[in-house]
Formats: sequence, structure tokens, C-alpha cells
Amino acid sequence: MKIKKAIFPVGGLGTRFLPATKSMPKEMLPIVDKPLIQYAVEEAAKAGIEQFIFVTSRGKSAIENHFDHSFELENNLLSKGKKETLKTAQEMLKIPGSFAYVRQQEPAGLGHAVWCARHLIGNEPVAVILADDLIEGSKTIGEMIQNYTTGNMLAVMEVDKADVSSYGVITPGKILNNSNIEILNLVEKPSKETAPSNLAVVGRYILEPAIFDVLEKQKRGASNEIQLTDAIASRIGKSICTGYKFSEERFDCGSKLGFIQANIKFSIQRKEMKNELTKWLKEEIMKSNF
Ligand code: G1P
Repeated sequence: MKIKKAIFPVGGLGTRFLPATKSMPKEMLPIVDKPLIQYAVEEAAKAGIEQFIFVTSRGKSAIENHFDHSFELENNLLSKGKKETLKTAQEMLKIPGSFAYVRQQEPAGLGHAVWCARHLIGNEPVAVILADDLIEGSKTIGEMIQNYTTGNMLAVMEVDKADVSSYGVITPGKILNNSNIEILNLVEKPSKETAPSNLAVVGRYILEPAIFDVLEKQKRGASNEIQLTDAIASRIGKSICTGYKFSEERFDCGSKLGFIQANIKFSIQRKEMKNELTKWLKEEIMKSNF
């Protein structure tokens, strides 16, 4: 099935990265030299998404500017003949009208953020991508779209039992094929003791249109927020809910550790940095007596 629209919830305050995020959206934090949100948009574009819907909040205008022309910069690069750099500055531009922005006026949770985009989605399934969850290879949402038939589909991965309280966690059912697993239930941020498994939801979703009616009436759940997880859970039994086990490495760039790990991993993959960086890392590890 062709999915044309993707929602990018980018309204979060980013308090875990203060003071860096005091006046800069956390989605603009770079992995090497590219902001997190650009990785998310590129993954969507590669998957055939044509309309990119951002749910923003106050102080997020840097994201809008990032996906627009910067004439001063472009003219400057052009006049200096820096064609390659110019290409980099322009690669995030899409055809006019592909990007839309709606405001989430209060930080009321992921479910609320997705619901804020309801008027821009018709009677069709939609992808949701959380830029914080950086998955190598930029192909996860594309694979999910290829696998999707109906209902709700969520990316899932195994996490340490000690970490389940940071995630939505599923009750797994039948294994449907190599990568797809039936979801019998899901719960947002359970304690280690009550978690139904260690299979956690990661920020890639394909949602059926019926989810918006559920979100409309969804009561606040974990962290006193309107949770997408709760809305999806209440559709189980009425439509199919599938977990997609992706194979690439995922970095939790909403945490400092994950963010630094992603920067190191992606830097090592850059030809121009690989040798010097790995040499330096080895030296540092030796010095710290590991
Ligand atoms: C959100 C979702 C959660 C999911 C997580 C993945 O939580 O609510 O179900 O497991 O993203 O990163 P957040 O990280 O916004 O607290």
C-alpha cells in the first residue's frame, strides 16, 4: 500500500539536553553534521513519503528554516564557487508545498501531538517518525510500508529489562513471519515488575485513520500525558496490530549516551574521519585504563 504522508512530532521541550536546547530545537542537534530531523525526513523521503507534516511548538522555527532556501548562504557559496557545499545546503529542499506545520499548543503527550495533525490527514494510513530514534540505514519506515497491509504497525526491539520503563512495551502474540509479530496488548512505560515483555516500541509507526477518533477522546495516561500507545492499544481486537522487528542499530538520541554513541558511530563511518578518530579513541581508552 502506498503511504504518502508522515507526521513528525517535534514539539517536545528537550529538557534532557539543556542548556543546549534552551533556544534550539532538540531535533536540530547534529549527528556529525546533519540535524536529527533531517535524518528522519530523508528516511521518509526514501520510503516514498510525499507530504511531511511537522507538529511543532513555540521556539521551533529553526526547523522550518532548515527545510527552506537560505538565499544569503546559497548566494555566498555560489559566488565562491563552492558547488559541493551548496548542494549540501540545498539537499533538504523538496517541491513547494511538501512541508506543513501545525502547532501543538501545550506539551500534552505524543498522542496529543499526533492528533493535532488530524486535519491534514485524510481517510488514509499515515506514518509517524520520532526523530529522537535514529535507526541506521534510513530504511526502517520504508520496510514497514512494504510490509503494511492494514491496522496499526509499530517498530519494536528488545531492550534490557531494566530499561522497559522508558518505553511502550508490547505483549507479543504469534510470530507472523521473519520480522512481523502480532501485538496482543501494549502498555506505556510499565515498571520492570509489571512489563509484559522486553519488546519495546521504537519511534516508527504506521497508523490507521481510525486512530484519530480514538485520540479525540483519549484520556491522559502515563506521565499524565495523552499517550499514543494507549490509543493504539484500544484498537486491538478491532483492527490488526503488528510489531515490526527491524534489523539495524537504533540510537536513542533523546538521551545523552545514545546521542554521543550515534555521533561516534556515524563519524567512524566517514572516510575523512575514520582513521584519525579510531586511533584517537583507542588512545583515549588506553589512557583511561579500561
Ligand atoms: C515515546 C513513546 C514510547 C516509545 C518511545 C520510543 O516515548 O511514547 O511508547 O517507546 O517514544 O522512543 P518518549 O521517548 O517520548 O518518552
